[in-house]
Amino acid sequence: MIIRSEKDVTEAVLGEMHRTPSARTKELLSALVKHLHAFVRETKLTEREFQEAIGYVNAIGQKTTPSHNEAMLLAGALGVSNLVCLTNNGVGGTRPTQANNLGPFFRAGAPKCEDGASLLRSPTPGPELTFKGWVTDLHGKPVAGAEVDVWHSSTVGLYENQDPTQAEMNLRGKFTTLADGSFGFTTVKPAGYPVPTDGPAGALLAAQKRHNMRPAHLHFLIYKPGFKTIASQVYDPQDPHLDTDSQFGVTQALIGNYEEQKDGSYRLEFTFVIEPGEARLPRAPISAKAAA
Ligand SMILES: [Fe+2]
Repeated sequence: MIIRSEKDVTEAVLGEMHRTPSARTKELLSALVKHLHAFVRETKLTEREFQEAIGYVNAIGQKTTPSHNEAMLLAGALGVSNLVCLTNNGVGGTRPTQANNLGPFFRAGAPKCEDGASLLRSPTPGPELTFKGWVTDLHGKPVAGAEVDVWHSSTVGLYENQDPTQAEMNLRGKFTTLADGSFGFTTVKPAGYPVPTDGPAGALLAAQKRHNMRPAHLHFLIYKPGFKTIASQVYDPQDPHLDTDSQFGVTQALIGNYEEQKDGSYRLEFTFVIEPGEARLPRAPISAKAAA
């Protein structure tokens, strides 16, 4: 259609939606256009701001590499990752869930481990942590044979993919739950860490004068056919950034009980509840380790 005023633009774009064969794609694109246009009108976006926004979006892609996922980092910093998680889990958001953001640091292909194995693949200083977990269904029945990926940062706050001094797949492992739904491992107690700030996500935090810390946590990804695959994180209640997580990931259901022992080591027990649904592993946000 010929556009006569700004009011016609939204109608013109929405008018092109009718050819879209997929009903879901049509719904998503229509809502996206409506909200984007409403945003421009509400904020009276200037031309200069629009040019800066285009540069910002391009920079997200330019910052992304096989060992870093800037779009995932930014989605977390805007709270979108956890919103998508909470509306899609816990029986459609109606009950607490152990599901949480996958985060930008999951790598596929972690080594398969025996129950109780260590996640250390190169010397990694820090207090020892012994973890014991269970996977159950919504009725508390053990789920045996679930595959559980585990990964976390070192005590200096770096994942192995960010840190050439750590061995390949250090602090990562893949476990299978036993007949009682349990699995366990030993590792070092993770520390809180700063998320990278040298890209657009960092510019966002700087513009808002926000810190870039994440409270200490372990990551999990639980896969079992017949159940909805969930990513999870278990947070350290002692961490000073627990209620100001720069990725908005901390939920009440995921605050763990990291119990300090007399010898300075820690123990943590945690139960993950999974619900019926589609078993589908997410696309890994990164695929490689940073070069030295
Ligand atoms: Fe993390």
